[in-house]
Amino acid sequence: MENNLRPESMARITTIELANAFIEEQIKEVRAQVGDKKVLLALSGGVDSSVVAALLIKAIGKQLVCVHVNHGLMRKNESENVVEVFRNQLDANLVYVDATDRFLDLLAGVSDPETKRKIIGKEFIEVFAEEARKQEGISFLAQGTIYPDILESIKQAEGKKAVKSHHNVGGLPEDLQFELVEPVKLLFKDEVRMVGRALGLPSAMVDRQPFPGPGLGVRCLGAITRDRLAALREADAILREEFDICGLAGKVWQYFVVIPDIKSVGVKDDSRYEGWPAIIRAVNSKDAMTASIEPIDYAVLAKITARITSEVAGINRVLYDITPNPTGTIEWE
Ligand code: XMP
Repeated sequence: MENNLRPESMARITTIELANAFIEEQIKEVRAQVGDKKVLLALSGGVDSSVVAALLIKAIGKQLVCVHVNHGLMRKNESENVVEVFRNQLDANLVYVDATDRFLDLLAGVSDPETKRKIIGKEFIEVFAEEARKQEGISFLAQGTIYPDILESIKQAEGKKAVKSHHNVGGLPEDLQFELVEPVKLLFKDEVRMVGRALGLPSAMVDRQPFPGPGLGVRCLGAITRDRLAALREADAILREEFDICGLAGKVWQYFVVIPDIKSVGVKDDSRYEGWPAIIRAVNSKDAMTASIEPIDYAVLAKITARITSEVAGINRVLYDITPNPTGTIEWE
């Protein structure tokens, strides 16, 4: 545990210059650690794994093999953006796996939130491990571990309990135990973002709001169906677009849409129209342990409501969740 602790002398990375110095230092360290061997990385598209990927591409180029598993629970265009940035712009060695059907078939009919999380986490390892076995000569596994993850595991080792499991990916199978490369493990999130900026990653990636590992899976409440998931993805994209337009995107910590598994009666084109409600959640938080509500301007809510109900098939109402945490956790599941 000792060398997992951040030395007090380590300066906070608050500028691009400091980030560049960190990058240069890490490039040397990674090259010394890896030599001419190959490194595997699960590239989710989140801030941490994206920054690690960009850093390692700079350090070891094509010796890095990135695997992006699309579990079918990503937000609109997210997987496409990963491919665009890493394969097309950064010329990464990227394996893209569309595993949507595998995940959605396994999740069909499963309504318990923790069971859904477990299925997603387990299948993710399964798919990633399959891809890893197809690769030859991998010696290292890169991970986007950051300092809060290390602090969290210390807390857990001390026996402190969490309200719900927040697992994304557990350990890999025994035959795939690689030496770890964790270049940002002593950095806090804001420092990781600064390093990402210095590496030239787009703001959509670096400033990405927190997004749960099980993705839209815990926002399509109860048993996931493809039609409700598609409606959720579209409604969420509209919310994000409108938050960009009115300037809330840079201000609110996390915002998203949730769709419960209930229908209500509505009316469209003079006919009865049964649909799901889209629930908007927009919260501010420092550490995700508690959350307060962003008071959204009524005109903004009205515009979002008008767009979602007219543009998204299957939705006939929009609700705005004003519950802080406590008592409402940020995600509904
Ligand atoms: P809750 O819902 O517990 O969420 O208030 C706190 C923060 O954690 C995120 N979250 C998750 N992140 N895997 C993750 O990586 C998960 O299973 C998960 N569940 C919740 C949530 O989005 C919020 O930022």
